[in-house]
Amino acid sequence: MKKKILVARAVFPEVLARLEQHFEVASNQQDEPLTAAQLADQLRDKEGAFTTGGERIDAQLLAAAPALKICANMAVGYNNFDLPAMTARGVLGTNTPDVLTETTADFGFALLMATARRVTESEHFLRAGKWQRWSYDMFAGSDVHGTTLGILGMGRIGQGIARRGAHGFGMAVIYHNRSRLPAATEAQCKARYVSKEELLRTADHLVLVLPYSPESHHAIGAAELALMKPTANLINIARGGIVDDAALAAALRARTIAAAGLDVYEGEPKLHPDLLTVPNVVLTPHIASSTVPTRRAMADLAADNLIGFLVNGKPLTPLNPEVLAKGR
Ligand code: GLV
Repeated sequence: MKKKILVARAVFPEVLARLEQHFEVASNQQDEPLTAAQLADQLRDKEGAFTTGGERIDAQLLAAAPALKICANMAVGYNNFDLPAMTARGVLGTNTPDVLTETTADFGFALLMATARRVTESEHFLRAGKWQRWSYDMFAGSDVHGTTLGILGMGRIGQGIARRGAHGFGMAVIYHNRSRLPAATEAQCKARYVSKEELLRTADHLVLVLPYSPESHHAIGAAELALMKPTANLINIARGGIVDDAALAAALRARTIAAAGLDVYEGEPKLHPDLLTVPNVVLTPHIASSTVPTRRAMADLAADNLIGFLVNGKPLTPLNPEVLAKGR
């Protein structure tokens, strides 16, 4: 008899078909996000869940899902998982690292450049029919080449951004991370480790790529923004909640920093209303990993984790492998 799984959001039909070869699948191809109560109800009799960052897996949900053995997240970030609670109940969590690294780093750079060169602001101006004549300072922005790129959070994606900045744009790269990288990795990225304060004070473009956790909540708030140069740009492709969005909107309005590029927001898909009214911000809807090949690779990896674990006992990218050691 096939094991039962839930695919909590719509996914590529080919990936769903592959899962259906192995499992009895309840799917959500109509793609209405499930409430916590609906998710708990759906997971009551399921052994596996294919989740996205929008499904919160916590102790309360786990208590309602006694058969659950694995939640395979189609995301590299997993702050929607209460991993200690999952481990305590012997539920494996998996994510999708590596397959999205270069695509996400590309997007970090796209957002950095769009922000520095005021691409969306100038497009809005043009579309609104306001372009009557050329002028010498029209949408004059910030240079990218030869400036200082700061990276907060130097994991795989941060390193990808550093390489692009150093090797492609001749930028001086500085970074801050919980732990310093090995010298060989620093050399590959041409990146210099600095304190968080030096990073904030020195970067011309500061890119946030750190995971969200209670420790990184509002890692960039009013005090940190106040340390940044008035000419600096801030890019957040990490997670909502790492930046205090109200403080950022105030800094953008007061122009104590030049501009921001944001792909993630506190409480998304809702945005702080002030972010919608300041002109010097580029806003995108959490799409940093969204290319067709990469989203497909992420979906395939999440599916492979479900098949690998529930069919063959071998998940590919476990987050809490201690669950496997317990031999559940
Ligand atoms: C996207 O935000 C991810 O974590 O993959």
